[in-house]
Amino acid sequence: MCGIVGYIGREKAIPKILNSLKFLEYRGYDSSGIAYVKDNHINIIKEIGKIKCLEKIVDTMVDSKIGLGHTRWATHGIPSVKNSHPHQVGKFTVVHNGIIENYLSIKNELIKNNIEFNSDTDTEVIPALLDYYYKKDKNILNVIKKTISRLKGSYAVGIICEDDINHLYAFRCGSPLIIAKDDSGYYLASDVPAILSFTNKYILLDEKEIAVLSKNDCEVFSLNLDKIHKKINIFEGTQETIMLNGYEHYMLKEIHEESKVFLDTLNYYVKENKFKDTMINFKKYNKIHIVGCGSAYYVGLIGEYLISEFANIEVTCEVASEYRYKKVFYDKKTLVIIISQSGETADSLAALRMAKENHIDTLAIVNVVGSSISREADYTLYVKAGPEIAVATTKAFLAQVTLISLLAVKLSNKLELLREFNGLEKHIEYLLNLDYNEYAETIYKHENTFFIGRLIDYALCLEGALKLKETSYINALAIASGELKHGTISLINENVPVIGICTKKDMMSKTISNLKEVKARCAYTIFITNEDIQDDFYDKKIIIPKVHDIVSPIITVIPLQLIAYYVAKKRGCDIDKPRNLAKSVTVE
Ligand code: AGP
Repeated sequence: MCGIVGYIGREKAIPKILNSLKFLEYRGYDSSGIAYVKDNHINIIKEIGKIKCLEKIVDTMVDSKIGLGHTRWATHGIPSVKNSHPHQVGKFTVVHNGIIENYLSIKNELIKNNIEFNSDTDTEVIPALLDYYYKKDKNILNVIKKTISRLKGSYAVGIICEDDINHLYAFRCGSPLIIAKDDSGYYLASDVPAILSFTNKYILLDEKEIAVLSKNDCEVFSLNLDKIHKKINIFEGTQETIMLNGYEHYMLKEIHEESKVFLDTLNYYVKENKFKDTMINFKKYNKIHIVGCGSAYYVGLIGEYLISEFANIEVTCEVASEYRYKKVFYDKKTLVIIISQSGETADSLAALRMAKENHIDTLAIVNVVGSSISREADYTLYVKAGPEIAVATTKAFLAQVTLISLLAVKLSNKLELLREFNGLEKHIEYLLNLDYNEYAETIYKHENTFFIGRLIDYALCLEGALKLKETSYINALAIASGELKHGTISLINENVPVIGICTKKDMMSKTISNLKEVKARCAYTIFITNEDIQDDFYDKKIIIPKVHDIVSPIITVIPLQLIAYYVAKKRGCDIDKPRNLAKSVTVE
């Protein structure tokens, strides 16, 4: 996933573009670039590394009023200057987020037409096609329409044409793109955080819509080139909500927002009764498929345990990248729930579209308002986590677990269970304020760890292991603890710390015996539980406040998030922007 931004107006474009790129860096950060118009010429500067590397070589004082910017997460072609965006072919300069799946056939066709390519990217076929069609038709909208008709895959594109430097052009399909306006001019961007320092009003481009921006106006056209009116959205938040506010990392800031996020999500669905507004008649369904990727998938697993246990409904939870390709058995009483923080994850979007192609009702649980998944699902339940900048999801995860726990209560019709949510924010605050350095100290020097647990605690093990992997690069394995004996216990020795999680009374003795098994093989053990058990099978323990099973996962995840954070900090990792990752994987 990459971040694109553009500006056209009455003020200097370069400082605005560089500022916006910093708020898109979470989308990809292996290289970046900028194009700006000066004296009727398009200048392009590109650099590998983070935005600060680009800033060092760009003169922000240049008086240019139109430009494009890009921050890259490499998909085709290694991170290098030549593969960085913007890409220019002939008259057209382009920035792109997404993947052009049929780029090779287009590239080969254009090479046969003597068009030269300078990069290894899929993106370069976009300016090449634009320029190829422009040679025959000087109407840029027609040229864009023809280009879109050739492209397969996902794309959000910003364009400057050398023959028309008083306009920016933009179009999208599959990848998000917003248009915004302030008193100085117009912006295009992949995501709202990029423009929040200028305005909180924006429009969302829909699939295959084309935007034409000038310093005084913005027009949006359908693919048939009919002019269309777009609704103005107001972003619920401010620049401050995405600033660090004194925290060293966004990840830590966002974890410490979790009691507010919990209350905002709880009140939105209980006090304001937003379930009612979704108009979804849950009684229609006797089977639920939950689908997601990464941490969203683990939210789904927690939902599977809670909904099946409390609502007595058959639930299966699948990884979206598997679900979208496997034989899936639907019936009219099936509900497919897609969980996604960004609402842009390609595999989750594809799973949603597959369910809709089978005429199955779809419900999205999403954090980002107006995201593709939220717009295409039949019903959407938003969590109230606010913008999440750190690549490793934390507050959005907790908000999604809160929401899916509320959904389990709603589906169970046992509304008395709502009482168990009251006051949970106190337990969240308690866990946020424990000292996790002592636990991180016992883990950070190792290269391997185990997380073991059963049932819903196993789902939490999966999330805890992922947090540790993606922030500290430690090889963390989550194992259903009953599985240890079936092979993986062979990996246990004094260099493999084991974190055991047990919050369910009926699993306590079994989990304790699993911890004793690894202790007997010299593992260093940390026990996370809600029972204050005195014994020698653990080296350290974290006592979770004892709460009802329906809300236990909401608080149990907090120590796992903070252990990962402090381990990564001790290892000197780039916590908010881990290597090779991006905040939302909008490509397959
Ligand atoms: C979580 O910390 C990871 N960054 C990643 O697994 C993420 O949960 C996954 O890519 C799904 O993203 P989504 O929730 O935006 O769909």
